[in-house]
Amino acid sequence: MDKAKRKAIIAGNWKMNKTPKEATTLLNAITPLVADADCEVIACVPYVDLAAAIEATAGTNVKIGAENCHWAESGAFTGEISTGMLKEVGVEYVVLGHSERRQYFGETDETVNKRTKAALAAGLKPIVCVGELLWERECNITEEVIARQIKLDLWDVTEEELKNVVIAYEPVWAIGTGKTATADQAEEVCAFIRAQLAKLYNQDAADAVTIQYGGSMNDGNADELLSKIDVDGGLIGGASLVAEKFAAIVKAASK
Ligand code: PGA
Repeated sequence: MDKAKRKAIIAGNWKMNKTPKEATTLLNAITPLVADADCEVIACVPYVDLAAAIEATAGTNVKIGAENCHWAESGAFTGEISTGMLKEVGVEYVVLGHSERRQYFGETDETVNKRTKAALAAGLKPIVCVGELLWERECNITEEVIARQIKLDLWDVTEEELKNVVIAYEPVWAIGTGKTATADQAEEVCAFIRAQLAKLYNQDAADAVTIQYGGSMNDGNADELLSKIDVDGGLIGGASLVAEKFAAIVKAASK
């Protein structure tokens, strides 16, 4: 499939930044700058910011996402948030399996898979993050790591459900470090992910999936990264907190 036929998606991942008031201010700065974007624009924000973010983006082309969700509908899971709670406030996307969740909060491919299944069942669109550690890259097992994550994280996800899944390739060594993967490195792994999806599903299904790159993507390198045939968008951390930088990346994806 022609890259131009896939949906380009630029998503901000705010992480643990911005209070509800600050979220409103930032989104009020972002929305006019991206109003004529020719790509999907999403801000994934902390749970307590969701209501303010949805209000601030009402009637605009900016969609709101959460940064995680639990797989159970309700119950004794102190500190967790269910898919139903997210749906009710108007959330459309949810980041799952981010490397910071895997690294600091014990997230595994099994729990990422459970969350992904639950999100899809509730009608949310998961942005499933995969990526290798620096040491894994140095040991030359990047493809093994990615293949395993893709297979396990999407275990039991149907071809129909895959249409609502976004994959984010985020090499862990590039996140928040200022060390971006080169455009060729990003392309190599994004193409590998698409090939894995073709193996698990079929070529048409794989060709339709939006695959983002994430890891120190900014207004200076977005053009080159997004020019690659299998890089359909970006998951943006640091640069998503500065309206002008985020808008410049959205502009790069709109070409
Ligand atoms: P970064 O974060 O752009 O700050 O590297 C990306 C991410 O973690 O999604």
